[in-house]
Amino acid sequence: MSQPLACQRDRFSLPDDFHYLNCAYMGPLPRVAERAGIEGLRAKRFPQAIVPDDFFRPADELRARFARLIGAADPDRVATVPAVSYAVSTITRNTATGPGRNIVIVHEQFPANVYPWRRLVGEKGGELRVVRPPRDGTRGARWSERILDHIDASTDAVAMGTVHWTDGTRFDVAAIRERTRDVGAAFILDGTQSVGAAPIDVGTLDPDALVVAGYKWLLGPYSLSLAYFGERYLDGIPLEEPWHSRRGSENFAGLVEYVDDYQPGAIRFDVGQRSNFALIPALSASLDLVLEWGPERVAAYCTALMDGAFARLRALGLSVEDRAWRSPHLFGLGLPGGASLDRLKAALQRHRVGVSFRGSSVRVSPYAYNTASDVEALVSACEEALGG
Ligand SMILES: Cc1ncc(COP(=O)(O)O)c(C=O)c1O
Repeated sequence: MSQPLACQRDRFSLPDDFHYLNCAYMGPLPRVAERAGIEGLRAKRFPQAIVPDDFFRPADELRARFARLIGAADPDRVATVPAVSYAVSTITRNTATGPGRNIVIVHEQFPANVYPWRRLVGEKGGELRVVRPPRDGTRGARWSERILDHIDASTDAVAMGTVHWTDGTRFDVAAIRERTRDVGAAFILDGTQSVGAAPIDVGTLDPDALVVAGYKWLLGPYSLSLAYFGERYLDGIPLEEPWHSRRGSENFAGLVEYVDDYQPGAIRFDVGQRSNFALIPALSASLDLVLEWGPERVAAYCTALMDGAFARLRALGLSVEDRAWRSPHLFGLGLPGGASLDRLKAALQRHRVGVSFRGSSVRVSPYAYNTASDVEALVSACEEALGG
C-alpha cells in the first residue's frame, strides 16, 4: 500500500466541539463538494448557459469515477439512481421467480433491499428465505456459511449487503457469489455501508448488481446514488422511460424522432432528470476525494485509529465482533446484560459523541476525519456509563 493516509478533518466543516463517529448514518459533505453543489445550483440563474452537453457529460464523468472506485472496466455499466430502493426495484422488475422458487436475503437487512423482494415474491409466488445469524456468538464466522446453506437449485436471487448495516459484520461475498453462479442465481449486493471505505472489485467479484447510496461512504449529497449492473440485467426494462435514456438523445432537435433503442449498457436505468446540476458535481467532487484517499487507506486509517480502544471497551463488558469479521469503519458495541442503554446514550450525549443505536447495540462508524480525541471521548462516555 502507498503512504498511510493522514487525518483529513480539514477537508470537512464538522464542528470542533463534536465527535462525529457516525458516517454510517451520513457522510459529512466535504467542503469541495459543497462548493461544487452550490456552483451547480447557481448555474440555473442563467439557463441559456446550460447546454445539451451538460445533460450528459457530467453524468458520464460521474459514472467513470464510480467505475474506477469499484473496478468496473466499463463506465456505461453504471446507472445514476436516486436511492437504493429505486435500483433494487429496477432489479426486482427484471428478476424472474415464481412458485417453487426462492429468493435469499439476510436477517434484518436494510428495508430498501427487502421490500422490493417482498413485493416480487408476493406477486409472483415463491419463498423469501431470510437467513438468520447463528445464536452462539459466531455471528461473523458462521453467518456466511448459513447463507451458503440456504442457496439451492431453486434460488433465483441472493440479495444482501456487502456488510451488515447495523454493525458492519462482514460476509464472505466471494464464496456466496461462487454458489450463486453454480446454481444460476442472480447476486445483488447493496454496498452502501462499505463501498468507499472498504475495497471492492467488481471485475473479480462479478456481481449482477452493486447498488450504493451516495450519501454515506461516498460522502455525497442526499438523493443521488449509483448502481453497477452486470450482463444479466443489461437488457432489462427500466422503471421509467426518461428521454435521455434513448439512443441519440444528445441531439435535442431530433428528440421527437422516437426510437426503440436505449443508450448503451446500464444508462437505460438512469432516473428521469438525472442530470441534476447541483447533485452530480457535488458527488463527483466527493468521489475525487474518495479516489485520492483510496478505500484501502481509509480502512487502514480506521483500523489504526481504533487500535487500542477495543481492549478498553471489552473490559467494560461491551461485546465487539472479532477483527476478522468486523469492518474497520463500522462496528457494533453490544451492551452487557443488565446495562442501561439510556444511561449510555446520556453519557454519549454529555461527551458530545455522535453514534447510532440499532436494536440493543451501539453502531460506531469512524472515518478519515476522526482523531484520537474522538475515540477517547467514545471510550470515556462508555466508562462513565458502564464502569464500576
Ligand atoms: C445498507 C443500506 N442500504 C440502503 C440505505 C438507504 O436506502 P435508500 O437509498 O433507498 O434510502 C441505507 C441507509 O441507511 C443502508 O444502510
